Amino acid sequence: MATTWALHRCSCLAYQRATFAATVISGTPQGITVSIPSGGGGFRALKFFRLAKNYCSSPTSTDTAVVVANDDKYGNKQVISLTPRLYDYMLSNVREPEILRQLREETATMRGSQMQVSPDQAQLLAMLVQILGAQRCIEVGVYTGYSSLAVALVLPESGCLVACERDANSLDVARRYYERAGVSHKVNVKHGIAADILNSLILNGEASSYDFAFVDAEKRMNQEYFELLLQLVRVGGVIVIDNVLWHGKVADPLVNDAKTISIRNFNKTIMEDKRVSISMVPIGDGMTICWKR
Ligand SMILES: C[S@@+](CC[C@H](N)C(=O)[O-])C[C@H]1O[C@@H](n2cnc3c(N)ncnc32)[C@H](O)[C@@H]1O
Repeated sequence: MATTWALHRCSCLAYQRATFAATVISGTPQGITVSIPSGGGGFRALKFFRLAKNYCSSPTSTDTAVVVANDDKYGNKQVISLTPRLYDYMLSNVREPEILRQLREETATMRGSQMQVSPDQAQLLAMLVQILGAQRCIEVGVYTGYSSLAVALVLPESGCLVACERDANSLDVARRYYERAGVSHKVNVKHGIAADILNSLILNGEASSYDFAFVDAEKRMNQEYFELLLQLVRVGGVIVIDNVLWHGKVADPLVNDAKTISIRNFNKTIMEDKRVSISMVPIGDGMTICWKR
């Protein structure tokens, strides 16, 4: 199960690298297929291709695919690139609580299951909440509750997570798991349109009273969510935005659909936003961690 899942995810990562040169690398439980249309090929992509090919031809050798920066100024720095086996290994080092595993597996049978964050992402979110000593959190985009449950599990008994979601059916699953995990008292479920909910929190005098926020909803609304959350989160608080790498499409100049452009613009804006310190982390589909100055 984990291997199939890892292969699926790694194929996305491989695709992410490969779109750079219009090269498609896809993973299946049987192995990895690499196909390069004629004319494709950039320096970095070719390097990655060679490494991926090594992985395919020698599946028992040390699995060390890496990406090397295209720009010589980075001094041939080798950056780790997840292969299916390496990601599987990483997942085997994630401490996923049993209740989260159950929720993940139940959600995997549902429509839209690819939307839930990965266990390694959830672990990072939970750790950020712990490092901050957070009491008050907000999540924008709950789905069936995987990331929100990860946060609620580590919140203190007096803590509170405002969980915003517009889809009633997925909220039913989330509520059931909050119950089962014994954290319902920490989760304030808000069924509705996220921007309206965030605005109502501000109108309710809750500005600067939150420690942590996670954004994982309508991607084209990221800038608006961010502005609202920047009002709601205190100085020293953290806002995390998911899907900032958008399956690699943000780095592909040939991809210009509305969602990709909007995520690209958001990334550019946040890069220049002096109100926050930032770190874009290549975990899951990419998350940017923002610390409010
Ligand atoms: C990527 S999923 C969230 C996954 C979740 N964080 C998890 O780990 O399982 C995005 C969710 O955001 C919800 N959503 C999208 N736009 C929304 C909006 N404007 N207001 C509230 N919820 C929204 C969708 O219904 C969907 O369930």
